[in-house]
Parts: sequence; C-alpha cells; structure tokens
Amino acid sequence: MREIAVTSNPGPPEDTAADTRVLGLFDGEHLPEPELQALVERGEAKPGLRKVAVAHEAAPGGGTRRVLIAGLGKREDFDGEAARVAAAVAAARARELGARSLSWALPDDGVEAALVEGTLLRLYSFDRYKPKRDEEEGGVESLEIAGAGVSEEATRRGQIAADSVNRARELQNLPSNVADPIFLAGRAQEIADAHESVEIELFDRDEIVRRGMGAFAAVARGTDAEPRLIVLRYRGGEQGPHLGYVGKAVTFDTGGISLKPGAKMAEMKFDMSGGAAVLESIDAIAKLALPVTITAVVPATENMPSGSAVKPGDIVTALNGKTIEINNTDAEGRLILADALTYAVEQGAERIVDLATLTGAIIVALGSTHAGLFANDDDWFAEVDAACTETGELGWRLPLHPETAKLVEGTYAELDNAPAGRKASSITAAHFLSNFVGEVPWVHMDIAGTAWELGRPYVGKGASGFGVRALVELARRAAGA
Ligand code: BES
Ligand code: MN
Ligand code: ZN
Repeated sequence: MREIAVTSNPGPPEDTAADTRVLGLFDGEHLPEPELQALVERGEAKPGLRKVAVAHEAAPGGGTRRVLIAGLGKREDFDGEAARVAAAVAAARARELGARSLSWALPDDGVEAALVEGTLLRLYSFDRYKPKRDEEEGGVESLEIAGAGVSEEATRRGQIAADSVNRARELQNLPSNVADPIFLAGRAQEIADAHESVEIELFDRDEIVRRGMGAFAAVARGTDAEPRLIVLRYRGGEQGPHLGYVGKAVTFDTGGISLKPGAKMAEMKFDMSGGAAVLESIDAIAKLALPVTITAVVPATENMPSGSAVKPGDIVTALNGKTIEINNTDAEGRLILADALTYAVEQGAERIVDLATLTGAIIVALGSTHAGLFANDDDWFAEVDAACTETGELGWRLPLHPETAKLVEGTYAELDNAPAGRKASSITAAHFLSNFVGEVPWVHMDIAGTAWELGRPYVGKGASGFGVRALVELARRAAGA
C-alpha cells in the first residue's frame, strides 16, 4: 500500500513547488487570478460541487504549472463532507493528468482534515495482485494544504485517520486465504509493537474454550483455521473514560452448515470489516495520543461447514452464562460478539460501541447511505451519532423495544440466535447482543450496507473502511479534545 506524504504550508498557495495546484471555487465568488477568473466567466470553470476544470499558469520558477479549479458549491453549504467530495474529484483528475505533487489552497477554515481524507481515500487502490497496472499509472506522491492560517494539527489528524482507513480497506480487500484470523492477530501485534501505549492479548482456540467463551468457540469449531480473540489495550492517560470498541471479524462467512447460496458469497471475505475498523482505529488513536483508555476486542474466525461444525439446534453456553440455541449457523456474528462484548464489560469498559457486518436485512432497510444504529442509552447514542455525522460515516437509529426483545427468547435455551420468520431481523440481532452488555451504555453499528459499496466519491464501490474515522472522532470527543 502506497502512502502519500502530507504537509501543511502556511505560505501563499501560489508560491507552492507542487506540479499541480488546486483552487476551490465557490458559487457566486471570484478567483483572485484574472486569467483563471476569465475561465469562470466563460463558463469553462464551474462552481458546482464535483466540477473540475484544468488550466495552466506561470510557475514561480519559470515554465507553466497545472491548476485545477474545483467547484465547491455554495459557501453556506460547504462542510467537511463537501470538502471530502471536492478533494476526491480533484485527486482523481490530478492522477489522470499524471500529477505527482498536489497543493490544495485551503478554501475555508477547518476543512484541512477533510481535504486530506478526500484525497488520500480516493487515491487508494487495492493493487498488490496487479503490480503492472500500478507501475504504468505512476501516481500522486505528495499533498500539501496551503494558505495562511492552515492548521498543521488538523492536516496531520486527517492524514493519520485516512492512512488508517486505507489500511483497514487493505485488510478488508485481502482474500480470506491471506487475511485469516492469524493474519489479523499479526496486524494487531504490529500495532501493539509500534506504540508503548498499546498492549496486546491473544487467545487461541484452547484459551477461548478454557475461558468459557462457548458462543465464540461454537462458531470456530467448523474451521481448520485457528481462531483468535484479539484484544488491544490502549492507555492514553489516566483521566479519560474507559471505552470498549468491539468489532466482528469473520474472515470468511460461508454460513456454516446453514450454508449461504453461491451468488456473491465471495463478498463474505468482507465479513471482518468491523474488526478491521476497530484495529486500525486504535493505531490512529495511539498516533494521536488521545487521552482515553480503550479496550478493543476483536473475535476473529472463519465460519465453515465441516464434520466438526456446530449444527442447527445445538445449545451452547456463552461467557456470561446465558444459554443459546443456535438455530441458524449463519447468524454467527452475534455469537462471536456475545462473548467479545461480555469480555469488554469484564475488562471494565464504561461505554461500548460495536461494529459488525451483522445482517443482510440492514441493507434492505437502509441501503448504503446509513449504518444501522441501536442503543440502550440515549446520551451515548448521541455521542456516537455526532461522531458519525462529523466524519460522514452516517448512522440511523432503529428501535429496541420490549416486544421485539421477546423474539430472541429461545424454545429450549434462554436465547435463540435466529428467530423464525426473520421479523425485524436487524433489530432482533441487536436485541440478541444487548443480552451481553449488562447495564453498560452501548451502541451497536450494523455496517453490512456500508462496509463496501458505500459509493461515496472518495471511496467508490470497494471496501470503504467504514467506521475507522468515526471511532477516532469518538475517542477525540470522549477525550474532550
Ligand atoms: N455476514 C452476514 C450478514 C451480511 C449479509 C453482511 C450480506 C453483508 C452482506 C451475517 O453473518 C448473516 O449471515 N446474517 C444472516 C442472519 C440470519 C441467518 C438470521 C442474514 O442477514 O441473513
Ligand atoms: Mn452469517
Ligand atoms: Zn457473518
């Protein structure tokens, strides 16, 4: 994965040494340079968001230099999301034109991070199995945010967040024969090794069984790939709150004995997206040294059919002692999360958020624009929702209700992992999880519709890294930064 060097430059944007300069154009406003303003008047450069015009100007050291004029829409509508979109469109055009170095003239206060994110996310591509194409394209090597008053801190924050999103996307995109639970544990180890503030704990299959994580163990029974419970502990200071970040990491979900149909099954390599987001968010949070404590818990396993696989009707006991009737082995995410959530609570997490590609039904309900959010606490929900809005990783709350809670009661055991009829099935999945958080404020994010095919201009259709930036933002808010 290629990383782009990012800097801030408080000097005049027109003095940049970059080979390509990007100038934003707001609706109804003028560009200071008369030759460029002439293009606006002729209608060649347009102010609408997503419009880009290509021009040239005299370079400071002689010769000419490329200028992209990027439409930003109306100034009063301009926000972080608009900045990410404009930056993504400009970055794509710059790459097409063979640009190596980009300099964005900061068009408005406070959008440094968004411009960096839009650029870096758009320029990511999963090309490690297509090395030739990579060489042919060359690519953008550096990005500068230029202008008086540019914040170095915000620029750096954008870079750290975007690099972590791209690393999560790489983990998502890697096929399951490469990115298996051991591989994810290896990446977690790298993160722990890179930061004094991060410690790691890994449980293998024996330890998962020995500790009584019967729900997680049941899912892992059918696969020859070794499962791992991955725990990262981040301590950024004594004063901040103790957060619990939990992410589903099913490195491949065949459905198990309740086998999925073949169509699109290959997409189930993405069923570890929640776990990838949690792991990479910790790397970013540690780089930013945010003053919070986080226990990150990522249960990682494949879900496979085999002679040793868990079977429909089997009853298991979870770490918190609750018994579960497994009526559909394809509802495996809630099983591994059950024990991961209990573990996060046991470790002292005071507020929990989990991310999981949990239900196909959430795609039917919300599409790819919003993740489904579920909460047992309005204040914690409001904090998570605000972080999501800030980063453009939108969520929409769905209800938990005593009537739908009843649907997850089992016939032969306390809980049923897959109530018949699939009524409100994203909601019942959330109710199932709520049985494992006790009284701790908790938000569940069902990211099945947003972890890939998000379709935003800056991430396109592949893996999106959804949730990494929201988790970083959430830690920033919790730290009062
Ligand atoms: N990983 C899937 C959910 C999913 C499906 C995510 C499609 C993204 C795209 C999950 O493990 C699953 O199979 N859920 C079942 C639950 C059902 C058996 C109660 C589902 O949604 O069909
Ligand atoms: Mn499944
Ligand atoms: Zn799954």
